[in-house]
Amino acid sequence: MTAVGIDAIEIRTGKLRLDLPETFAPAKGEDPGKYAKGIGIQYSSLPDVYEDIVTMGANAARELMDRRGLVPEDIGRIDVATESAFDNSKPVSTYIAGCLESVYDGDFHHANKGERKFACLSGTQSVDDAYNWIRAGRNRGRAALVIATDTALYARGDPGEATQGAGAVAMLIDEDPNIVALSTEQGYGSADETDFLKPNQQFPSVDGKRSIQVYLARMREALEDYESVAGDTHPDDFVYFPFHTPYPGMVRKAALLGYRHITRNTEVEDALAEDIGMQPREDDYGSREDYEEAIRGYMDELKETRRYQEWYEQAIDPTVDISGQVGNWYTGSVHVARLSALRAAIENDVALAGEKLLVGSYGSGAQAEIHAETVQEGWHEEVDAADVDQQLDGRYDLSFEEYELVHDAHNHEKEVDVDAFTQPSGEFVFTGWGRMNERRYEYVE
Ligand code: HMG
Repeated sequence: MTAVGIDAIEIRTGKLRLDLPETFAPAKGEDPGKYAKGIGIQYSSLPDVYEDIVTMGANAARELMDRRGLVPEDIGRIDVATESAFDNSKPVSTYIAGCLESVYDGDFHHANKGERKFACLSGTQSVDDAYNWIRAGRNRGRAALVIATDTALYARGDPGEATQGAGAVAMLIDEDPNIVALSTEQGYGSADETDFLKPNQQFPSVDGKRSIQVYLARMREALEDYESVAGDTHPDDFVYFPFHTPYPGMVRKAALLGYRHITRNTEVEDALAEDIGMQPREDDYGSREDYEEAIRGYMDELKETRRYQEWYEQAIDPTVDISGQVGNWYTGSVHVARLSALRAAIENDVALAGEKLLVGSYGSGAQAEIHAETVQEGWHEEVDAADVDQQLDGRYDLSFEEYELVHDAHNHEKEVDVDAFTQPSGEFVFTGWGRMNERRYEYVE
């Protein structure tokens, strides 16, 4: 069976950044350690006034197409995953295709376009749709462009403000991919939840603490479902575990639970038992409460073991590096986590071709999905070529007062006139509204 997966990837970050420990925390009268250590985000990426989900998505896609020498006719499908859409009918992919058509010869008139919604999970669901479309033989030799793009802004004063971000990830999905091939096995954990939602409103209604528990519960279910088709997982089976990363602190919690699960009934559990005993088994306890208390005690000890900490440092830490520099990109976050890990592998000279990743995606509302990916021969060259450092380092540093202006400028309820903080160059920009209230864009040389 021909491998299908991610052939190329580019990101586009919002061009502004807010330093959470140094700028946000003092303005809120909070300890910088909450952001630097607890939440784990140093900078939130934010969009300049001429940036939005369309410009970031189109700029990432253009970078990818230019680098790979692609023309519109090479693309048979454009799917956009977002939870920041501004139109309930016309999909963001049509706006992005329009932008791209303004700079390329040719057009996307025979490409299938759509928009996917399931909170942060829809980036992965769009990759799935593209995978299925290629596997079904409906692609006529063409590749699919998947663009996950979001402005993850919260209402001012909401605790979620600490996890904001803005950016896009463009991925080319194709046969014989250069970066990773996707497994056919998948696991799902899905339930009707009201932890985080946007019922026809720009900023989310969030029950932050509950959203953490829902994330962990759905991920566990997805892992069990994955194992029911792929067999038991073991820490040694996977070199990295990129998870949806609303903030690195969330992944710290998920990783500990995941490690307990994948080491149960293995020689790792036996080896750990010498220091911290075997994992509690429910049958050995008189009540659910006693069992849960024992689990909490085991986990507290587990996270202090050298074995766990070494695994975390090698398999998890590299996945959250970019997230700590940009915040939550919602639909793009798990794809940023994968990219982050692959970049760390280059930096540390890790040979990856043939190795596996276990990828955990999540969307509030809520659903988790877990699948495996096999790293392909061309991964190093592709990942090395992606434009990341220059963008992250080139962002404009906002003062707190400037941040307040930027937030207002993107707030649909407010009409404020804010000057751009950066100068657009060689990119698509938002220019205002047209006669049918459509958003308008142009390419600035
Ligand atoms: P909060 O109440 O502002 O923060 O809310 P906190 O007091 O819980 O502190 C955060 C962490 O920092 C805690 O760590 C503190 O102990 C620690 P934890 O106990 O959780 O391990 N801390 C410190 N550490 C070191 N030094 C200090 C210090 N002070 C505190 N001085 C919350 C945090 C995440 C709830 C909030 O930001 C929020 O509501 N965020 C939005 C929701 C969210 O991101 N949920 C995550 C799971 S749901 C999800 O991922 C889906 C999502 O991406 C949406 C989608 O799918 O579309 C959000």
